[in-house]
Amino acid sequence: MRLTERAHVAVAGHLQPGALAVDATAGNGHDTAFLAERVGPAGHVWAFDVQAEALAATRARLDACGLLERVTLLHRGHEGWREALPPELRGQLTAVMFNLGYLPGGDQRRVTSPVTTLAALNEAVAWLAPGGIVSLLVYRGHAGGLEEHAAIERWLAQCPLQVECQSAPANNTGAPLLYLLRCRACPGGSASSVPGPVR
Ligand SMILES: C[S@@+](CC[C@H](N)C(=O)[O-])C[C@H]1O[C@@H](n2cnc3c(N)ncnc32)[C@H](O)[C@@H]1O
Repeated sequence: MRLTERAHVAVAGHLQPGALAVDATAGNGHDTAFLAERVGPAGHVWAFDVQAEALAATRARLDACGLLERVTLLHRGHEGWREALPPELRGQLTAVMFNLGYLPGGDQRRVTSPVTTLAALNEAVAWLAPGGIVSLLVYRGHAGGLEEHAAIERWLAQCPLQVECQSAPANNTGAPLLYLLRCRACPGGSASSVPGPVR
């Protein structure tokens, strides 16, 4: 199973109809559409991307599936999380998905970067609901990928959430990695408290 599918399976185990979720990197909209489908008509998804091209692709995908009304598309970096998301969402997000790197089919020089990714990861941890999950798919093969992964590894070492790592079956250091972050107190998704952000 591809890591993108594994991320969906893991996140689906936490999402209920009516849930609230964030796609931190909308890209071509596969993850946004998945989240919108799972949260149902009573739920909502906020999706960030810095590229108009990515948001156009995501919008088209959502529109084709009749899911557009469930999603707020944010044309800005996920590091602008606090300015972009309603403050009442803090502690209410059941799932946050990160799929790092560049837009497939787009400009491969426009990649996620360590500083902004870590800023958004801190917010994701802080805004997660009890029983929520953060999925983090990291690619190391592009320019800057190894540096971003190293920064993420350092961040994960002090992350208050339980971290599970899955790797693509490839025998090289550039293989993608999927991290699943869950509240330590609630591996089954029924926590009573959420750890604070890493600062
Ligand atoms: C691998 S793609 C995401 C794939 C997407 N999740 C999907 O399902 O199709 C990575 C995306 O991150 C976006 N990106 C780069 N820096 C960003 C930032 N600071 N905030 C939000 N998105 C960013 C890129 O524009 C690109 O579209």
